[in-house]
Amino acid sequence: MQVVREPKAFREACEAARATGARVGLVPTMGALHEGHLSLVDRAAEEGATFRAVTIFVNPLQFAAHEDLGRYPRTLEADLEACRARGVDLVFAPDDGAMYPPGFQTTVTLGELTKPLEGVHRPTHFSGVTTVVTKLFALTGKCVAVFGRKDYQQWRLLERLALDLDLPVDVVGHRIVREEDGLALSSRNRYLSSDERQRALAIARGLRAANEAWHAGMRDAAALVEIVRGPVETSFDSVDYVAIAKPTTLETLEGSVTEAVLLVAAHVGRTRLIDNLELGVDPAP
Ligand code: PAJ
Repeated sequence: MQVVREPKAFREACEAARATGARVGLVPTMGALHEGHLSLVDRAAEEGATFRAVTIFVNPLQFAAHEDLGRYPRTLEADLEACRARGVDLVFAPDDGAMYPPGFQTTVTLGELTKPLEGVHRPTHFSGVTTVVTKLFALTGKCVAVFGRKDYQQWRLLERLALDLDLPVDVVGHRIVREEDGLALSSRNRYLSSDERQRALAIARGLRAANEAWHAGMRDAAALVEIVRGPVETSFDSVDYVAIAKPTTLETLEGSVTEAVLLVAAHVGRTRLIDNLELGVDPAP
């Protein structure tokens, strides 16, 4: 497994792989890798990638001043070992200065898709994500890029980004990987005390109940939201949103729904968790 720290070396390695006829698979991450991230590496192979690159970069642009940039877990050695064990071909782990050298001043911003949900609570977050991912797409070149549906809005807007900017990138969304008890894997789960972890299960419980209601024929948007909101409000310290939205545009839905995704963001202690379920599409949490 090759490990590179410089953008130019990353571009050259991707180009060299393509020159031998390989199909490049790209898995962008912020490290602290867990099975959720690693399943994206497997998915890249299923999508036909024969040369798989993982990027590890805690992107300062996507954290607001009051957020957890400083305490975000950094476990590079363990991450490299996990990538090696998974058959990754190339890891790109740049430092801040390599990605944002002095004089850097370009930002990529998307429109409507960034405004609701996460956009309300983290207003500068998505421009940080779209800026760094545009750079990663530009460096990688033609590839299939795999993202987790765990960050549902992020996945949808990155799909849009590749389309709008004619980037030679096929964006794939991979299902959420969960613990046995339903908790969605997240690098931030390691912040949770055992009491908080127990309380965090309320999201999966709420989504599971809504999923059952959906399969029993319930189609009322407000009622589906209430099924999730109940347990989340009881167990979490504060709730940013429990919402039901149209899967492709993330517009809020009302009345009777046919295609819908339920999305949750809530705080337990100092930790903010997100989760979602696309009704009738995703398996029960
Ligand atoms: P990060 O939070 O490290 O996540 C990297 C990728 O792993 C994302 O596509 C995310 O959706 C996916 N992922 C995380 N937990 C998952 C789970 N339980 N199941 C399935 N996929 C999961 O998302 C980011 O980093 C950054 O915003 C990034 C795109 C790298 C840009 O900086």
